[in-house]
Amino acid sequence: LNVAVLYGGDGPEREVSLKSGAAVVSALEEAGFKVVPFDITDLGQLSDLRKTGHIDSVFIALHGSWGEDGRVQSALDALRLPYSGSGSLACCLSMDKAATKGLLNLFGVPTPEGVLVLKGSSFSLEKARHFAERHHSVVVKPCNGGSTLGVTVVHNSQGLSDAFNEAWKYDSRCVIEKYIDGVDLAVTVWKQKGYLEALPEVMICPEKGFYDYDSKYTPGKTRYIVPAPFDPSIRSDIHQMACRAFEALSCEGYARVDFRVEEKGTPWVLEVNTAPGMTGTSLTPKAAAAAGYDFPAFLSHVVCLSLE
Ligand code: DAL
Ligand code: MG
Repeated sequence: LNVAVLYGGDGPEREVSLKSGAAVVSALEEAGFKVVPFDITDLGQLSDLRKTGHIDSVFIALHGSWGEDGRVQSALDALRLPYSGSGSLACCLSMDKAATKGLLNLFGVPTPEGVLVLKGSSFSLEKARHFAERHHSVVVKPCNGGSTLGVTVVHNSQGLSDAFNEAWKYDSRCVIEKYIDGVDLAVTVWKQKGYLEALPEVMICPEKGFYDYDSKYTPGKTRYIVPAPFDPSIRSDIHQMACRAFEALSCEGYARVDFRVEEKGTPWVLEVNTAPGMTGTSLTPKAAAAAGYDFPAFLSHVVCLSLE
């Protein structure tokens, strides 16, 4: 099979996507696919894809912006090319942290309480200030960000305005949500024989406490525990919740659901990533390995899902 791998993009996560793309290209080659690497910096270049010869499927290793928010998926639909992961609507909803929160709430999946804040809207700023006063610690995030870019934890409302200004560098819409004291956890969900399956959860222990861009992509700066040392009933709840979040967002193929888990084991879903990182330090390849799939085998299955 011929598989085109899209990576790069022109957004803030370009460097991450270059690493994901390189890893995916080499693993798919190892798995026996004929791979067409495609560093794409503009959505319009997609029309060149057909010129590279016959393509059976497209693997999307783009992160953020038009690579993950449904636009590249819509363009591939128009070109009638199958692609990895979710369709346009699921990507659009999952890329937007406010839309995600709304849907998780409607579907009954616990997600930290939050407020949508629009740049220039005094109404939403006022609400955000009250929210920050009500909660000791809050997190401010751009709605369409990734890799923790533009994210700030705010304690006792100290530096709240700076936190908004930082988030607004990435998006004019942001969310402020209750900070959950606990650990970060990621669960990759995929389809196996028509059913949703959660891969082993990855517990994330960053050296400096906050799982930011540096902790995510600098080897050795974070320790990962797979599976996490939970009681079986807590693990089972978390896996079920990950599958429910996947469904709530109408995801397909595979996606990674990110959680905060309180010390007593209460899980909260933060977001769903439809184009999760595939770099050497990323979480989904670790989850696959713990489930017994090496990276080429995992990606082969994702490509096969795109052809179903
Ligand atoms: N946004 C990054 C690539 C991730 O979710 O892994
Ligand atoms: Mg994300």
